[in-house]
Amino acid sequence: MQVFAEKQVAQQLATCEFITSSSTIACYLSNDGEVSLSSFIADQWRCADTRVTRITLPVIHPINKGHLLMLAYTPSTQMTENKYGIVEPALACNSIELVKNHNVILMPLVGFDRQGNRLGMGGGYYDRTLSSVRNEKKRPKLVGIAHDCQEVNELPAQPWDVPLDAIVTPTRILHFKND
Ligand SMILES: Nc1ncnc2c1ncn2[C@@H]1O[C@H](COP(=O)(O)OP(=O)(O)OP(=O)(O)O)[C@@H](O)[C@H]1O
Ligand SMILES: [Mg+2]
Repeated sequence: MQVFAEKQVAQQLATCEFITSSSTIACYLSNDGEVSLSSFIADQWRCADTRVTRITLPVIHPINKGHLLMLAYTPSTQMTENKYGIVEPALACNSIELVKNHNVILMPLVGFDRQGNRLGMGGGYYDRTLSSVRNEKKRPKLVGIAHDCQEVNELPAQPWDVPLDAIVTPTRILHFKND
């Protein structure tokens, strides 16, 4: 079931213009039942000779509390475990990629609704990190990755919750209008 979801999502993403036209894409390593992006990342690495795509992963910001820092992720990246037991790239200053320089940010979630509201794990990490770019004209496309069963009727959105531009599930690609 997990592997099926992982492969399906990789296939769905490969059909998205916002992915095929991107040069820098933030991904995540799945935790606790989240849809894995490992197949997608492996596909991107494999295509790296024909199309230059930079993959990044979020790491807990070492200074700015509650924020994430995006670091380049390649097959040779040295990895470490953060305080939540999640594997992340070891901090290296020359690997930092600014959030605003991403074309797409793929995010895990706990729940989503048809308005593009996203419920995360409750740390506010993505909300804080994206708060600086959410109102920019040119900003990364924010895409939630989910199992179909993570859809709920309506999520109560707080002012700090950054809405999604799209959701990709193993069977669906949903686009939202948040401008
Ligand atoms: N931009 C922000 N500035 C300050 N505090 C924030 C901001 N965004 C979120 N928070 C704080 O983080 C807490 C958790 O936020 P929330 O419940 O929305 O997390 P989440 O969206 O589930 O988590 P995540 O963003 O990590 O996926 C909130 O109680 C809020 O006080
Ligand atoms: Mg939130």
